Amino acid sequence: MRKPAILITGANGEMGHGLITALHARNNVSIVALDLNPLDKALSGLVYEELIGNILDQSLIEQLNGEYEFDAIYHLAALLSTRAEFSPRAAHDVNVGGTLSLLNLAVEQGRSRGVPVKFFFPSSIAVYGFSGLDAKNKAGAIPEDSHRNPSTMYGCNKLYCEHLGHYYMHYFQRLGADNNRCFIDFRSIRFPGIISSKTIPSAGTSDYIPEMLHAAAKGEPYQCFVREDTQIPFMTMPDAIFAITSIMSAPAEDLSRTVYNIRSFAPSAEVFRQRVLEYFPQADIGYHITEKRQKMVDSWPLDTDDSKAREDWRWKPVHGLDNGLKDYLVPELKEMYKD
Ligand SMILES: NC(=O)c1ccc[n+]([C@@H]2O[C@H](COP(=O)([O-])OP(=O)(O)OC[C@H]3O[C@@H](n4cnc5c(N)ncnc54)[C@H](O)[C@@H]3O)[C@@H](O)[C@H]2O)c1
Repeated sequence: MRKPAILITGANGEMGHGLITALHARNNVSIVALDLNPLDKALSGLVYEELIGNILDQSLIEQLNGEYEFDAIYHLAALLSTRAEFSPRAAHDVNVGGTLSLLNLAVEQGRSRGVPVKFFFPSSIAVYGFSGLDAKNKAGAIPEDSHRNPSTMYGCNKLYCEHLGHYYMHYFQRLGADNNRCFIDFRSIRFPGIISSKTIPSAGTSDYIPEMLHAAAKGEPYQCFVREDTQIPFMTMPDAIFAITSIMSAPAEDLSRTVYNIRSFAPSAEVFRQRVLEYFPQADIGYHITEKRQKMVDSWPLDTDDSKAREDWRWKPVHGLDNGLKDYLVPELKEMYKD
């Protein structure tokens, strides 16, 4: 007998930390956690099985298919935007090849169980692309179906995988005998930059905001790698996790799309720096611009329009910039770095 479970890939990442904790608390389900690296000790006790391995290892995927019946797959594993620019081929392998493999696992599972497997895919504002600042500023807060011209490997990977998910849900094997059956219930969110109190990001290009805050809380100097006026949307990690659990529990008939924008606040680097200084007046935060990373951020929208998520699955963030800092980030960071 195959054991009922849910699968989380990339489980030891920033988002995996929050998601494992939330799903463990909410659901009476067995979590199977897969990551290249061992899970942090605090998470190990919350999962049914921890697998240290690569999503590109086909024998591991087949083993999972043989041992478990997955109700849902949360496919978080990826190489993030900065890392992907340094290693584009590896990024394509993991971000596209790995996603294809997980989609095929979901199809196999959906086919044998006779019900579609829910598949969560975290996409990114990197799927958007502007040629320069003028175009970015003129566009303002953009909806899902415009300006999808990514100029980064990561953005290309994410956009293609959104399309793959849509294809697998609606058109997979449409010329075959199973042509009117749906094996996957694919749901995706395009996240803005995410700020967590528990983990410091690495290898992303929106990292300047969380890095600035963590450095200030630790009492370390920080050089922001983008200009003062640089603006993209952000949200807190608890809101990101809340969004994942909300879209995954929404009735299928309420969802008019497979991919949704969400956002909470969109401060410029300097506005955020000023807010950090209010809480950490001694913080030493300067600017040392890295032109190449700046160009990547300049190609991303200054904000997104998340009205579809608000309408369809009643998305509403708990944290704005003010209460996100006051009630969540600053108290938790002060506690974490108090020694
Ligand atoms: N953090 C953000 O600001 C943000 C924004 C938008 C989208 N996302 C997306 O959310 C997801 C999770 O992001 P995160 O912030 O937790 O990233 P992260 O880098 O902290 O975590 C990714 C995890 O995936 C694992 N991983 C990488 N390659 C793997 C492989 N081949 N096999 C198995 N595991 C592998 C890594 O070890 C890591 O633990 C990613 O898909 C990311 O693209 C994140």
